[in-house]
This record gives sequence, C-alpha cells and structure tokens, in this order.
Amino acid sequence: MIINHQTIKNDFPILSKKINNYPLTYLDNAASAQKPKSVINSIVQYYQEEYSSTHRGIHYLSNYATERIENIRSQIAKFINAKSEKEIIFVKGTTEGINLVANTWGKKFLHPNDNIIITEMEHHANIVPWQMLAEEKKLILRYIPLLPNGTLDVTKLPFLINKKTKLLAITHISNVLGTMNPIKQLIKKVRETSDAVILIDGAQAIMHKKVDVQKLDCDFYVFSGHKLYGPSGIGILYTKKKILNIMPPWEGGGSMIKKVSLTKKTTFNNIPWKFEAGSLHSSGIIGLGAAIKYIQKIGLNYIENYEKKLMRYTLTLLKKIPNLILYGTDNKIGIISFNLKKHHAYDVGSLLDQYGIAIRTGHHCAMPLVSYFKVQSMCRISFAIYTTKEDIDRLINSLIQIQYILNNKKNKIS
Ligand code: ALA
Repeated sequence: MIINHQTIKNDFPILSKKINNYPLTYLDNAASAQKPKSVINSIVQYYQEEYSSTHRGIHYLSNYATERIENIRSQIAKFINAKSEKEIIFVKGTTEGINLVANTWGKKFLHPNDNIIITEMEHHANIVPWQMLAEEKKLILRYIPLLPNGTLDVTKLPFLINKKTKLLAITHISNVLGTMNPIKQLIKKVRETSDAVILIDGAQAIMHKKVDVQKLDCDFYVFSGHKLYGPSGIGILYTKKKILNIMPPWEGGGSMIKKVSLTKKTTFNNIPWKFEAGSLHSSGIIGLGAAIKYIQKIGLNYIENYEKKLMRYTLTLLKKIPNLILYGTDNKIGIISFNLKKHHAYDVGSLLDQYGIAIRTGHHCAMPLVSYFKVQSMCRISFAIYTTKEDIDRLINSLIQIQYILNNKKNKIS
C-alpha cells in the first residue's frame, strides 16, 4: 500500500491550524495524540443518533449501544491478541488501570515482606501506586537500575528476584527516552525464577508497534486511548482470565453486582463487568473503536517502519546542532529527549511554541529517570503517524534559530 502522508495529515482537522501564524507542528504525541475525523465523527454520530445508557436498559437504543460497546471490547481483544474479550476491562486510562491492579490484585495477594520489582525509568503512574501499596502492606520495592546510556541494567535482575517477588511492573517503551525494553527477555527470566506476575505499561508502545499479549506472556497490559488517536478518559486494562477470575472488584456500584441486599453479602457480576462499576464512558469507547479501525487501515507494521525511518532522519539532523545533548541511545521508538546545553528546556519549548511547534518540556512524569541524567528538565519531541520530514525540518531550523536567540540573550523572535 502506498501511503501519502499529506492525506494522513488531512485526516486530522486540527493539523491545518495555524499557531502564532505558523503552521502547527505537533510533536507532543507522547503526551496525547490528535484525533482523525473518523474518530470525531463516530462520537458525533453516537451522540446524535445512537446515544443511550448501556448495560441496563431494555429499550432499543440501550440494547444497540450495549451491543456496540461489547463489539468494541471484542475488537480490542483481537487488536492485542487477547484470548478472550472477557480479559478486556474499560478504565479511564493507563493510570487507572495500574491503580486498579494495585488496589485489587495487590491488596488481596501481597503480604508483608513480599517484594515488587519496577525499574528506574518508570512513569510516575507505575511508581507511585506501588509505593502507596508498599507502605500500606509493608512490601519491599526493588528497582532495576539504569546504565549510563539510559537502558536497563538487566544483569541486575537475578539479584533482585527471589521467592518473595510477586510482581514485575515495567514500561514497554520509556516515555522519556523512547527506549524499548527487552520485555520478552525479562518476562522469561522472571518466569524461570519466580511465580511473580507481570504488568506492562503499554502507554507509549501501543500506537507505535503491534502488541500481542499472548506472545509477550504478560499477565496485565495497560494503555490509554488518547495516545492511540482515540478520545481522552478511556483506556484498557488487559488481564489474563485466570487472574481476573480471582481478583476482587475495586469500585463498587451499579453494573458490577449480581445481587444486593441490605442484610446479605452482595454478590458480584461476572468478569469483565465486575470491574466496571457505574456508567461506562460509552462515547469514549465508541471513539476508541474508531481509532483502532483507523490505525489498522494504515497498519501497525507500516507505522513502525515509517517511524523508524523518521527516527533515523531526525537523530541525524539533531546531532548536527552544536551543543545539543541527546539522552539515551539511538535505539528509540517515537520519542526523543534533548536539551540545548546551558539553556533551560522551558525557554526552548516556549520559543518553539512561538514558531507553532508543540513539544513537551519538564520532568515528563518520570522524575527519577530525568534526575538520573542530572537535569531537572528535558525537551521532548514525539512522533505520530502524521509526523513528516517537513515537520522535523521545521523543528531543526527553529532550534538553530532559537539557539542563536538564546545565545545572544534576545527573547523575542523577529
Ligand atoms: N504520560 C504522558 C507523557 O509522558 C502524559 O507525556
């Protein structure tokens, strides 16, 4: 299939916007990706023609909406090659998915002095819930350390695992460095030496490469819809059925029950609904279904190859900019962090914004990783399927001008 990237750009209405009289160059996709027309239209159509409450009505609209939601659950199961749609739970996003695991599986199955292994490169969403749980249940948190190039020192893993290791929770791709972790190798090692379960934070992987949860052999895989060109407020927690069946529910409320009485113990619904208390974010689910359809039309293999080439192109040009410090190795997927020596990332990001270029600056919700490099802040660019060489050229030219402006202590673009 021959893909025209201008046609892809045209699918995303917001990308034709001008910011500060410059064409929008959107390079903040790791924070949140833009939405194609098909996603926007699916939500509009749902609200205009099909909207209703789901999973509780007996009327036509409610049945229809419920059927659509359940079809999307099956679509998502196929998308990540889950064995069953019952392994797919709708959550608000990656953060809620991880917190659900900590608050249900973690609270039930972890005991004082058990240990949890995470890594020094995690997003706060895969650190803080475990710290909170560790404090409450007197657990020990262990960290796979970083090497100076920002990759994980996997040789340290055997020294961290023992019979008390109950969980490895790790990011698939670093949200700061774009490094893809050797997940399969790590999972194999953990399975050989312990009964620990494995959680993968897929927030930064799901839009860049094909994910197959059965091939990975992970127990939990979490991701957010909004980074996958879908709506905000919707995400997925995949959990192996045998674990889901023994996990207690987290939030209580409507839909997650079988029987409630004031005198007897409440009984809970079957999986996955037992984990979906309250009304679902149905428009978010409809939009996510449309987003997955959109990227499947382009193809994740195509996306991965295209972004690989774009990565090589971008790194080559960034390396030509004097005094630009790149973090991590060249083996990156979709994400690059850098600083212009002696200039604060915030100044660089704010000046790029004046040229209509959107990037993220700061600690990227991964303070331990950023401080490992002895800085408080980095500039981060991140790709999406609509990112083109022209976007990168615009970034590079602007960075060169910005460096000149900052070096000469000017603070305005003329
Ligand atoms: N987790 C998102 C990021 O890395 C918000 O920017």
